[in-house]
Amino acid sequence: MEATQLMSHYITLTQHLIEEQRKHNSITADLCLLIEAISHACKLIGYHVSRGALGEAYGSTDRENIHGEIQKKLDILSNNIFLTANEWGGNLAAMASEEMEGIYLIPDSFPRGNYLLLFDPLDGSSNIDVNVSIGTIFSVLRCSDSRTPTEQSFLQQGSHQVVAGYAVYGPQTSLVLTTGYGVNCFTLDRELGSWILTHRDLRIPLETREYAINSSNQRHWYTPVQRYVSEMIDGADGTRKADFNMRWIASMVSDVHRILHRGGIFMYPADKRMPRRPGKLRLMYEANPIAFIIEQAGGAATNGKNRILDIYPQSLHERVAVFLGSKNEVDRVTRYHLKG
Ligand code: AHG
Ligand code: MN
Ligand code: MN
Repeated sequence: MEATQLMSHYITLTQHLIEEQRKHNSITADLCLLIEAISHACKLIGYHVSRGALGEAYGSTDRENIHGEIQKKLDILSNNIFLTANEWGGNLAAMASEEMEGIYLIPDSFPRGNYLLLFDPLDGSSNIDVNVSIGTIFSVLRCSDSRTPTEQSFLQQGSHQVVAGYAVYGPQTSLVLTTGYGVNCFTLDRELGSWILTHRDLRIPLETREYAINSSNQRHWYTPVQRYVSEMIDGADGTRKADFNMRWIASMVSDVHRILHRGGIFMYPADKRMPRRPGKLRLMYEANPIAFIIEQAGGAATNGKNRILDIYPQSLHERVAVFLGSKNEVDRVTRYHLKG
């Protein structure tokens, strides 16, 4: 979109959703309302994030979440904002989140619908207090037993997602969305309070010379990751015969947002410290929605061996190793895992 484009030609999120429905028949009225409610929740979270030390929700609590991580006040506030904004619409049967051990049933005071919502209310919470970009990740699944949903109802492969998206709260507030027909990015016009379509059909370049990994864990990595990263560090002098650049924001949403715009590979591998733990990131509300977006933009996402979207989840909070981004690089590191 040209910077000089008249506001009257802005395409809002609402207009975009209606047009998608006409084109692909992919967004029911229920789903449309749900996406609107989610996008509203993201605006609210973005507002509280932007208040920083001026806001009431600043700093840490003394509580831990199910993963043993200390919850920030904003983690809890963002979780509550998502629950409150999405429970009334009549389109959801239940919700689940990084910050809640069990599932959240839609209260009896509201009708129950045919969808399930999973979310990471605030991704990158170690960056909250230092004014570095953070975000919210969400995933929508169908619910076959909408009257009596259980944790089991959520345990579907990522390929069954009907909507996935994330918001980034940074210098700009962005909303990235897929309903299975490509990936579009909306920018929050803070004066209007509206999400405006600014990047249509984002495509990730197949090739990249940029990678993201927390290399302080290097001594714990398994051989395929050691090999893959050291070949990039060797640069033009090594087998890759090209120099690579490294970027690590420590908010997956922000690293992924960069990759969607200019390519790259993001990795959070399993390592030798906890052989039974398959990586740090969570499958259902971090890896799955991001993998859906990445694939819809022409990229790839694996756990080192298999496509993330094909994994059958065993539990709500299970973890998974993640390699995602530019297809040729994800294919390469996956090959290294498969061939040893
Ligand atoms: P969360 O804040 O939701 O717990 O997720 C943080 C995740 C992810 O966003 C990021 O890429 C990664 O943790 C950062 O890990 P390191 O602390 O190892 O850098
Ligand atoms: Mn997260
Ligand atoms: Mn989080």
